Amino acid sequence: MKKVISFLMLSVLLVGVLSACGTSEKSTSGSGSKEESGKKVLVMGTSADYPPFEYVDSAKGEEIIGFDVDLANAIAEKLGYEVQVKDIDFTGLIPALETGQVDFVLAGMTPTEERKKNVDFSDIYYTANHLIVSNKDSGLNTLEDLKGKTVGVQLGSIQEGKAKEIAESIDIKIENRNRIPEIIQEIKSGRFDAAIIEDTVMKGYFKKNPELTGFILEEDTEEGSAMAFPKGSELTKEFNDALLEMKENGELEKLIVKWFDQ
Ligand code: ARG
Repeated sequence: MKKVISFLMLSVLLVGVLSACGTSEKSTSGSGSKEESGKKVLVMGTSADYPPFEYVDSAKGEEIIGFDVDLANAIAEKLGYEVQVKDIDFTGLIPALETGQVDFVLAGMTPTEERKKNVDFSDIYYTANHLIVSNKDSGLNTLEDLKGKTVGVQLGSIQEGKAKEIAESIDIKIENRNRIPEIIQEIKSGRFDAAIIEDTVMKGYFKKNPELTGFILEEDTEEGSAMAFPKGSELTKEFNDALLEMKENGELEKLIVKWFDQ
């Protein structure tokens, strides 16, 4: 009997440990005192590894900041909500929406047909291009140069899909990581020859890592970011209307200049 009980206890423990894997939570609102304002708190899921969309600037503090955070706060302000930010690996964001762990997601996420099967999206709020990133001395200048090379992508991102497309015609080895800084590190250390990352995100990394370079994936269509919501959520229309207002009155442009034009 004792054995059975300890086995049961062990299983319970294990399940707990396993379900804690893959998410690291970080709230920007601190004590949760926001409810005191009487406003409804909405939890925003994001993967805070994506400057300038969402990241932690450790020199300045622990807070998750960025374009997406400002945009979410501006929209919530208009609608009378408070936002609490939750940091989750990119690949866990859609499951978090589906299980009600978060109310919406802003994570530079592209509204693909595949994802639309599981979540609803707002209109696009920002577009960017894909870059093939590598060390300057690697001499990679064209897609063909990638032959026989190891290419890194973020797990569950559309860049991963892009890499698979490339692999159909060029012999590359695809590797994935959960977080963008890990990918940058692997390129710098030479474990990855290249990576596929958005130009807007690379801009900041290029500044800090002058030994890196990149070229645009030419035949690629521009990709965009949209806000994601659980299927059927009433928030989709509310947020989209507020986004439209911000597009029309120049507020969105102001945020774009603030975060992307530096
Ligand atoms: N736009 C790409 C996608 O939707 C990458 C987004 C990655 N976002 C992030 N916060 N790491 O797949």
